[in-house]
Amino acid sequence: MTRFVCQPGGSISGELRVPGDKSISHRAVIFASIADGVSHVSGFLQGEDSLNTMRAFQRMGVRIERDEDRVTVHGAGLEGLEPPAGDLDMGNSGTAMRLMLGLLSGQRFDSCLVGDRSLSSRPMQRVIEPLTKMGARIDSETGGRAPLRVRGGQRLAAIDYDMPVASAQVKSCLLLAGLYADGETVVREPAPTRDHSERMLRAFGCALAASDGEIRLRGGQRLRACDIEVPADISSAAFFMVAASITSGSDILLRHVGINPTRTGAIDILRLMGADIELSRQREIGGEPVADLRVRGAPLRGIEIPPELVPLAIDEFPVLFVAAACAEGITRLRGAEELRVKESDRIQVMADGLSRLGIDNEVQPDGIVIHGGRIGGGSVDSHGDHRIAMAFGVAALAASGEIRIEDCANVNTSFPGFAEMARRAGMRITVDDG
Ligand code: S3P
Repeated sequence: MTRFVCQPGGSISGELRVPGDKSISHRAVIFASIADGVSHVSGFLQGEDSLNTMRAFQRMGVRIERDEDRVTVHGAGLEGLEPPAGDLDMGNSGTAMRLMLGLLSGQRFDSCLVGDRSLSSRPMQRVIEPLTKMGARIDSETGGRAPLRVRGGQRLAAIDYDMPVASAQVKSCLLLAGLYADGETVVREPAPTRDHSERMLRAFGCALAASDGEIRLRGGQRLRACDIEVPADISSAAFFMVAASITSGSDILLRHVGINPTRTGAIDILRLMGADIELSRQREIGGEPVADLRVRGAPLRGIEIPPELVPLAIDEFPVLFVAAACAEGITRLRGAEELRVKESDRIQVMADGLSRLGIDNEVQPDGIVIHGGRIGGGSVDSHGDHRIAMAFGVAALAASGEIRIEDCANVNTSFPGFAEMARRAGMRITVDDG
């Protein structure tokens, strides 16, 4: 069992480039694999989640070469994937499983998607249901859980679908299935969600209309290979944004961070709390906006988190809860029930950990109330959730005693090298693999 042992106090400084964006890395390999021609991806996240996606395509006959974060994909074309010899293991990744399910529903061959314990307990009905309406045949365990067995050779028909949850995974799954469907697929989202799929499909030469929360895509379009530069992941940068914000004297420069407006809710929320975050060198690379972020320590205050920012900061809440624990006053979050079906139940697991460290909080079905206070030392359980492990690592900067975090191996799914980078910035984390 991997454990983080974090000494209290300190501040952070220097320049960092965190690893590549996970959402964009998954999509780069998926779209490049079904494109015509050779695509080059740079800045690819070498984390377990995106590597599992890459391996899945290799197992379906796609030639993919990787040299650290540079990946060359020899696209097999829309109909060129081959039947995999066994199950496709998506590990810990909900994004990989849901997007792959859309893609596999349109193939000629049967396939089976499996995942780890956490992934096998996450809801897949949200994608099974609309895919089934399109004509896909998918068998699942009770309650729409993995393993998911896909019967190939079905003729898919386009769907016109109002998504009941604001989910980029559901949207992207249906767009992937839509590529294989007869007719025009229309997906409407109840609130804006990350639009990397739409941007990347366009970069691969696909015609797609997106406006006012409605996306339209005609089936049968072929993708043309292209080169993709993956920006640093704002979800990983967020740990250092909060680390700098909660410690006076901190001053950190985060380089080349993706600032797609569907992902910047954490910057907005931290600024509302009083954080000092400056953006510079704003530019666009391969259809995605990036910037350097300078963050300095500043006194934070509790806020009511605006509900419209929730989907735009959905992965950053564990560490935003740490910011709230360090803020003066009370922070309230509502409308975030989706946090309960992430890699862990992020509302309950964070609440339990914060309580262990002496931070008062009240759990609600769709959110939490956090009373800012003094973080104490103690032992917390991340429940194998990468973002919870890293969030409590950040909490140690403001703690009065040592924090020990259990079950941290999954940090490698999204942020390999986190502890080393955190140490370089000034945090005192050691990794105990005992
Ligand atoms: C993701 C979408 C989000 C996010 C996840 C990555 C994606 O999930 O939490 O980490 O890459 O599309 P939902 O679409 O389920 O909200």
